[in-house]
Amino acid sequence: MGGIPHDHYEPNSGGEKWLHKRLPVVGLLYDTLMIPTPKNLNWMWIWGIVLVFTLVMQIATGVVLVMHYTPHVDLAFTSVEHIMRNVNGGWAIRYVHANGASLFFIAVYAHIFRNLYYGSYKAPREVTWLIGVIMLIVMMATVFMGYVLPWGQMSFWGATVITGLFGAIPYVGEPIQTLLLGGPAVDNATLNRFFSLHYLMPFLLLGLTLVHVWAFHTTGNNNPTGVEVRRDSKEVAQKDTLPFWPYFVIKDLYALALIMTIFVAIVGFMPNFLGHPDNYIPANPLVTPSHIVPEWYLLPFYAMLRAITFSISIPFTDVVLIDSKFLGVIVMFASLAVLAVVPWTDTSRVRSGRYRPMFKWWFILLVVDFIVLMWAGAMPAEAPIPQISLIGTIYWFAYFLVILPLLGLFEEPTQQPLTIEEDFDAKHPATSAEAGTVPAE
Ligand code: HEM
Repeated sequence: MGGIPHDHYEPNSGGEKWLHKRLPVVGLLYDTLMIPTPKNLNWMWIWGIVLVFTLVMQIATGVVLVMHYTPHVDLAFTSVEHIMRNVNGGWAIRYVHANGASLFFIAVYAHIFRNLYYGSYKAPREVTWLIGVIMLIVMMATVFMGYVLPWGQMSFWGATVITGLFGAIPYVGEPIQTLLLGGPAVDNATLNRFFSLHYLMPFLLLGLTLVHVWAFHTTGNNNPTGVEVRRDSKEVAQKDTLPFWPYFVIKDLYALALIMTIFVAIVGFMPNFLGHPDNYIPANPLVTPSHIVPEWYLLPFYAMLRAITFSISIPFTDVVLIDSKFLGVIVMFASLAVLAVVPWTDTSRVRSGRYRPMFKWWFILLVVDFIVLMWAGAMPAEAPIPQISLIGTIYWFAYFLVILPLLGLFEEPTQQPLTIEEDFDAKHPATSAEAGTVPAE
């Protein structure tokens, strides 16, 4: 598939021509900023930019935090308190960083569910989607390791529980666990390697972001209709699109300003709302907290881990093939991996959920399922929580592996607009009349 035809950068002055021959970087920036973008994008298309902004914000605040933080079991907790009390503006930087992780996940979940609804993962955007899935996993590893750094009670015990999971893998589990921990238990070596990796991985995310953007610039953006931009000629493509600069830059900045207003209010007035009070108690290997919970954004996957309370045995014997702990680990990792197959299990010929009357309901159920799992992950693992989690887990997998393939076969989609222009004109008759694309009333 060729790209969307559009104007390319032409160097004018002698200096521009000189540079362009040697390093066409201005051309690259121009083409990136002026990329034709479907003109009917709605507000759910802001999350990608929010994610890019948050990633940069996390790196910037993280780099400053590191200037005052000490990755040693005897000093980590107090160095964080030192940042909060003594370093100029230290409390603000720390709270922006800690709450920034929550903003990052709000944005990524909105971004993922937006893609799931509008079928953005479908051909030809599979690679953009797959890179996204890898980014989600790297994000999760990054936040998990970051949470260990303040060396509070939840840091220590969270690290103990999660690294313990690797120990459940048969044969190779224990060596992997020892490698992760840098010894037999969570200790100074663990804190050091988590610190090192927590610093490294955001840069990996930055690199992946570039490839992600490259991939969807190659295919062009999806849009709420799921109908492709027409590419017959530049003039025809212009009827379906607007250049990214200035139209979408202004729109995205407006959304970002609103979101950051709320974010700053949370950082200023309720910075610990999403945190856990136990993490203000220094880590103590001799005292286990009564209830170990991860941060809110990891809860759905934690719920799927705990949903598995049974082992798989050979029928009518006592021979256990997969014990419950290992099965839980498999299910938890598979719950992320299953996202990678959706471009191929969704067999519908229609991309956008807007024109899929049955799909819509199953999709809403998936969102509800995700929220229920999040709630279940925060509850103590007593009846009926494991049972509810199990039902939620079964639905999560069934949606991707059974429901989507079947819907593609049995669902009768409704009529899609033929072009993006048609969809846009139907929604904005006044704007379109001004532009002369539809007659004024
Ligand atoms: C750090 C994390 C991420 C960043 C910075 C990021 C950035 C972006 C940006 C800027 C866009 C274009 C604007 C938009 O569609 O909102 C985009 C599109 C897209 N992203 Fe992400 N993304 C991230 C994570 C993910 C994840 C986790 C997934 C999926 C699992 C994903 C899948 C996609 C897809 C399929 C598109 C194309 C949508 C379209 O063409 O309309 N992204 N991303």
